[in-house]
Amino acid sequence: MKHTHYIRQSYLFCKYRNYVLGIQKYITGRNVLEVGPNKGALFAQYYPQTKKYTLLEPNRYFEAFYIRLQRKHANLHYKIGGFEDYVADETFDTIVMMAVISHIRLDSQAIFNKIDALLNKGGFLIVETNNTKRNLAVFDLLDRNYEKVEAKASYSGLMKWLRIDYRTVLIYKKP
Ligand SMILES: C[S@@+](CC[C@H](N)C(=O)[O-])C[C@H]1O[C@@H](n2cnc3c(N)ncnc32)[C@H](O)[C@@H]1O
Repeated sequence: MKHTHYIRQSYLFCKYRNYVLGIQKYITGRNVLEVGPNKGALFAQYYPQTKKYTLLEPNRYFEAFYIRLQRKHANLHYKIGGFEDYVADETFDTIVMMAVISHIRLDSQAIFNKIDALLNKGGFLIVETNNTKRNLAVFDLLDRNYEKVEAKASYSGLMKWLRIDYRTVLIYKKP
């Protein structure tokens, strides 16, 4: 699979975003699944604080990055595969899906059902919109079935001002 450099996965950018997003409290001490993590850099600074952190990514190119991260983080696990075919023998306290929903080749109801089956009661879903309209109905389903705890722009400061990117990060709690 092709891969290009992705600024969102660079060290300083992740630091800046994590400062803006403040999601630490939703993953600390929890069993976390991140879908479509790319290089796995987004929340790497929080891996030591989680109970267990699993990366699910279809692009095998990124495996080398995960193996490198695993040398530092014994609680980091990964699976190469798409969300569509993912079968787990566990459920999760938090699921992270940043800019990935639109890439999933399932209809919105099936995406919601799968999230719901993988997420524990009282668990959190941290989800970021994509810049395309595909699968947006997932957000309607989440609004109807889960409690929306937070909604904020993906970027602040210069990035927000430059209007390069209009994504939103939403945090939902499963009742
Ligand atoms: C736009 S990138 C976002 C990467 C990262 N989450 C971020 O926010 O920087 C989409 C990611 O989802 C992955 N992806 C694509 N199709 C997927 C699928 N069906 N299931 C899970 N992940 C997928 C891509 O390989 C890529 O890593």
